[in-house]
Amino acid sequence: MTPLIQLTAVTKSLKGQGEPRSILSGVDLTVHSGESVAILGRSGSGKSTLLSLIGLFDRPDGGQYLLGDRDITRLPERKAAALRSAEFGFVFQRFFLLKQLTAAQNVAMALVNGQGWLPRRKRKAKVMAALDQVGIAHLAKHKPPRLSGGEQQRVAIARALVREPRLLLADEPTGALDTETGNVVIGALQAATERGCGLILVTHDRDHADRMGRVLELTDGVLAPAIERVGV
Ligand SMILES: Nc1ncnc2c1ncn2[C@@H]1O[C@H](COP(=O)(O)OP(=O)(O)O)[C@@H](O)[C@H]1O
Ligand SMILES: [Mg+2]
Repeated sequence: MTPLIQLTAVTKSLKGQGEPRSILSGVDLTVHSGESVAILGRSGSGKSTLLSLIGLFDRPDGGQYLLGDRDITRLPERKAAALRSAEFGFVFQRFFLLKQLTAAQNVAMALVNGQGWLPRRKRKAKVMAALDQVGIAHLAKHKPPRLSGGEQQRVAIARALVREPRLLLADEPTGALDTETGNVVIGALQAATERGCGLILVTHDRDHADRMGRVLELTDGVLAPAIERVGV
């Protein structure tokens, strides 16, 4: 089966104040539909840089990036923007919800931006299905200030899912949440993979990582299987 995405020998340097510094020095990564992959790595190891390449916010310096069998290594920004909204869903540590809008309206924003205006009834059905998928359909009319952190993050996940992305990219989505709430959020992300969506989860939390199909670690600019934890 053709993989969803395939990165081969991907490199990236970033300029700070001084000389460009190598952040990724040859990343290989293949993800199939419905597969979940965790990426661990110390702070500053390049995890967010890697996700921004995968999500087409930036392009690699070298190597190859395939989406299905399409080479998107050096996609111009206009085409990248179109693919970003059609193919990828993003979840971040911060929820980026609009306080004045209800949960349902926040989710609907993703549909308005990405696909133009859908007929109202279709839009509503899609929004409610996405909220239901993350277990918060009953909170559709609530505004973010009335929701807990975990509920707000689930609204953000629903917003990512409502366009039915092929790949979900989550950058430390539980970073601002306590363990218990984090577990619920990870469950909501996992549920998306049961519908065929791929998932890449960047996390510091080894327990959350171990719930994914594969656990990788980014060290010295390359991805490798994380060392197995010794069971007790
Ligand atoms: N836009 C940028 N310009 C220059 N350096 C950057 C930029 N973004 C991140 N970096 C540096 O790249 C390295 C990797 O950052 P990042 O990908 O955010 O790591 P992680 O997400 O694993 O903590 C860090 O040393 C960071 O300071
Ligand atoms: Mg990061």
